[in-house]
Amino acid sequence: MTLLKIARMGHPVLTRRAEQAADPTARDIRRLIEDMVETMDDGQGVGLAAPQVHVGRRVIIFKAPAERADDEIEPSAASALTALVNPVFEPLTDDMSLGWEGCLSIPGITGAVPRYLRIRYSGVDPSGREIEREASGFHARVVQHEIDHLDGLIFPMRMTDLSLLSFNEELRHFIEVERADEDRDAAE
Ligand code: NI
Repeated sequence: MTLLKIARMGHPVLTRRAEQAADPTARDIRRLIEDMVETMDDGQGVGLAAPQVHVGRRVIIFKAPAERADDEIEPSAASALTALVNPVFEPLTDDMSLGWEGCLSIPGITGAVPRYLRIRYSGVDPSGREIEREASGFHARVVQHEIDHLDGLIFPMRMTDLSLLSFNEELRHFIEVERADEDRDAAE
């Protein structure tokens, strides 16, 4: 396996639409996915899309660890490591929620992004198996983030309030504001 170079915001590969992979079980797709997993783990990310490693194909990997979904009781909020070729999703509700996201292509930055709370997604895994799942919460969020990469969209392009775009080191100010709000709510 090989660690791949990650394209950072500003590289045109991140704003191009990726192409369908003709054969999801092809050897080069399997190898790409293995290398993407190693690259994602090295960067301590929870998802990666092929354009982020300079490959314009519709391939994503992601995981939604249970600890990231711990305030969400539904099992659909978590997911084991999954690789999908030619993935698509549809929202199952109009409800969206604002949540903090980072991206390996935008290191050191976090933003609050609106995403659908509940989706159904599908695709083919590298062994050729059709996968179809319903996802909610953090799981739904990470899948929407990764599929966006295949359409040339990075998370700041989805933000509706750019005052919620922050260097990681400054994020505590938002968390302090949230805490102060909670304390005030508790006092009322
Ligand atoms: Ni990303």
